[in-house]
Amino acid sequence: MTAAEYQEKIKGTLISEGEIQKRIREVGAEITEAYQGKSLVLISVLKGAFVFLADLCRTIDLPCEIEFIRARSYYDGTVSFGEAKLALSLERDIRDCHVIVVEDIIDTGITLQKVIDELEKRHPRSLQIVTLLDKPSRRQNGLTADISLFTIPDKFVVGYGLDCGEYYRNLPCIAEYAG
Ligand code: IMP
Ligand code: MG
Repeated sequence: MTAAEYQEKIKGTLISEGEIQKRIREVGAEITEAYQGKSLVLISVLKGAFVFLADLCRTIDLPCEIEFIRARSYYDGTVSFGEAKLALSLERDIRDCHVIVVEDIIDTGITLQKVIDELEKRHPRSLQIVTLLDKPSRRQNGLTADISLFTIPDKFVVGYGLDCGEYYRNLPCIAEYAG
């Protein structure tokens, strides 16, 4: 992709860097309050959630462990096939742990449901979902996040960890993708 093509495909900022950081500080404080006296295992779903996790974990004032799992959802351009594959290589035994799954976006909900089903089998003491973005209009199951930072319309977005064809993850804001 040329630099000009790269720029042309971005329609405009949907959520600014400042708005994201403000909501993250609020949610970090909520989590700190809710889990007082406990320690946490934050499990992030790669690759998309890596930026969100990096910022969120630094706003939580509690003992935290960080783990990663890998999920791949299948796309035809910007349209989900509604299929997901998990590469779950959690070395940490999460039995009896307070776990928070940190996700970039819940779209159809299929990816995250698979993640949750796998984690539940390992008997955590508690399991909550925090997502940066929620697109409820596209949901194919009843999955809801415990904390969602932003609800967005049915638009394909990139930036702040989210990609299109592996590009745009390094944008500091959430932008609408023109395709
Ligand atoms: P789901 O299984 O349909 O909920 O899809 C979840 C995954 O698809 C997310 O973790 C993202 O990796 C990807 N995804 C869904 N919507 C978007 C989007 O608007 N932009 C970029 N990636 C997306
Ligand atoms: Mg993802």
